[in-house]
Amino acid sequence: MAPRGLSPNDPSSYSRPDQIILTNIFLALDANFERKIFSGNVDLSVKKINEDVKELILDSKDLNIDSIYEKETGRKLNFTISSPIEEFGSKVSVELPPDAPTEFVITIQYETSPNASGLQWLRPEQTAGKQHPYVFSQFQAIAARSFLPCQDTPFVKTKYQAVISVPDGLTAVMSAICDSSRSLGGRGNRKQLFHFVQDIPIPAYLIAIAIGALESRDIGPRSKVWSEKEVVDDAAYEFANTEHQLRIAEEICGPYVWGRYDLLVLPPSFPFGGMENPCLTFVTPTVLAGDRSLANVVAHEISHSWTGNLVTNANFEHFWLNEGFTMLIERKIIGRLENEHLQDFEAYDGLQELKDTIKRLGEDNPLTQLVVNLTATHPDDAFSIVPYEKGQLFLRYLERIVGGPEHFEPFLRKYFDTFKYKSITTDTFRNFYESNFAHIDAIKEIDWQTWLYSPGFPPEIPEFDMSYVKVCTDFSKRFIEWDGVSPIPFTDDDVKSLRTEQLIHLLQKIIAEEPQSIEKLRQFEDKFGLKSVKNAEIKYRWLRIGLQSHWEDKIGETLDWLVHVGRMKYARPLYRALYDWEVSRQRAIDSYTKNKDNMMHVLAYTLSKDLKLSE
Ligand code: BES
Ligand code: ZN
Repeated sequence: MAPRGLSPNDPSSYSRPDQIILTNIFLALDANFERKIFSGNVDLSVKKINEDVKELILDSKDLNIDSIYEKETGRKLNFTISSPIEEFGSKVSVELPPDAPTEFVITIQYETSPNASGLQWLRPEQTAGKQHPYVFSQFQAIAARSFLPCQDTPFVKTKYQAVISVPDGLTAVMSAICDSSRSLGGRGNRKQLFHFVQDIPIPAYLIAIAIGALESRDIGPRSKVWSEKEVVDDAAYEFANTEHQLRIAEEICGPYVWGRYDLLVLPPSFPFGGMENPCLTFVTPTVLAGDRSLANVVAHEISHSWTGNLVTNANFEHFWLNEGFTMLIERKIIGRLENEHLQDFEAYDGLQELKDTIKRLGEDNPLTQLVVNLTATHPDDAFSIVPYEKGQLFLRYLERIVGGPEHFEPFLRKYFDTFKYKSITTDTFRNFYESNFAHIDAIKEIDWQTWLYSPGFPPEIPEFDMSYVKVCTDFSKRFIEWDGVSPIPFTDDDVKSLRTEQLIHLLQKIIAEEPQSIEKLRQFEDKFGLKSVKNAEIKYRWLRIGLQSHWEDKIGETLDWLVHVGRMKYARPLYRALYDWEVSRQRAIDSYTKNKDNMMHVLAYTLSKDLKLSE
């Protein structure tokens, strides 16, 4: 799979924004739940960069394009669609009229396909309410092209507007401000029309849509939470601190420019923990722990309002500029919201996960570089925790070199302000850092080459405040050394003394150990109340420990959970653990085969590789 012939700057896109560039997107689409498609028009405003350019090249995947014409004159434009490169889609080449002005608008009439990789269509029985269908999008990294023909590279940022018609009784939400809605049509064929505006230029991967039987509750002056009515109260409770987090984020990063910060809680098949769609973060219902203990996901997505959404990676080889920075800001928010020990504790926990990941991928694996080469690799195949945690470690290192947060945070604000609304590469960041701190000798020591382009562990690991870690290390040691015959070495007070984050970390430590006896695990499960645990981070780790210790009871429990839960962070390691054990391997494959049509494409695609069903 080598998709060369794509854009010289972005190996994952066919488009040539160096020749002619999109400046605005206007979508007018109808959502058809019977056919599981969107159909209608998109108006693309374009601007020539090279006056001699002859064609406009767009990305598309499984789109049914009917016609393309120049909006102002109505002149039809010839176009060709190349045969697709698996997972990257097809190149659409639109012939430009010889007398086309520098800036003009083209209209494309088209339909999406029922198996569009960026959309998931749910039947009523797959929703919480079981009465109405639902559709949601997930376009990062390169699935926007399955929703609209566009320059699907984060190098290109545009404003967008949309008019979406949906069956009566359903509500549409998008990564934009909804400025009106009205009813349309007569009896039997009533529709609701929603109008959206995103006035800040964004990359195509941040366009987002969801339609369902949605309700909302206000949770702050600029925030509400959206979901099906069955979970809306739980969601309002869980995210009650959103405004507080936003204020802290603004203190660190500068003004929040997006107007609203709403949250949408999706059905459990949503493949990510959270997705930073502007004005409307998408989150998995697995963060509804009931005790606000997983609020870091919201802190993370809020942080993207600066890192990623204002300053954007120019392509996904520089993904660490999005996620590494976001982890840094997320943890700064946690540090100020709670305390600094917790900030370091989370960073230390992340380091443990990074070690496990590098071990699994191999220390020489080029995908463990901070800046990766995606020439022959799909961004979904490159995805791992590496850009998140190695990126965050690098930024903490860069922060320490210049004298700590006191010096680095003002620099960060300047960085956001300088590069807002732009897309940048790692070199741009490096030059900006070096010129801002040119007066500091210590920056000469920075081994940029190793940090950015060498695989494996980072050259230097900072010291963390270990106050919250100590007790986890102690508990883990007691558990591992325990023979399983003498009484379990934890009192009820021990159990109560642990913060949720610490229990998660303790389990993470046990995962890294040799398999444990089932008798020990049973007693531990009782003592720590893990049998019916609601917190998904705990449940996921406990199932992994059970599977790697060959505890048969956990096979069925895992498979049952994974029928509904499509969050990749849980599903992939759990499926891999099932695959690694001969006893559960075939059951995992059978269950995957049976359920894959109910999974979002990105999960079905990556799991088929994890289960060795495809290359
Ligand atoms: N932007 C990512 C999700 C993503 C990355 C989707 C790449 C598609 C391709 C999002 O901000 C994210 O990192 N989510 C994490 C949250 C966690 C780090 C708190 C997740 O989903 O687990
Ligand atoms: Zn993120």
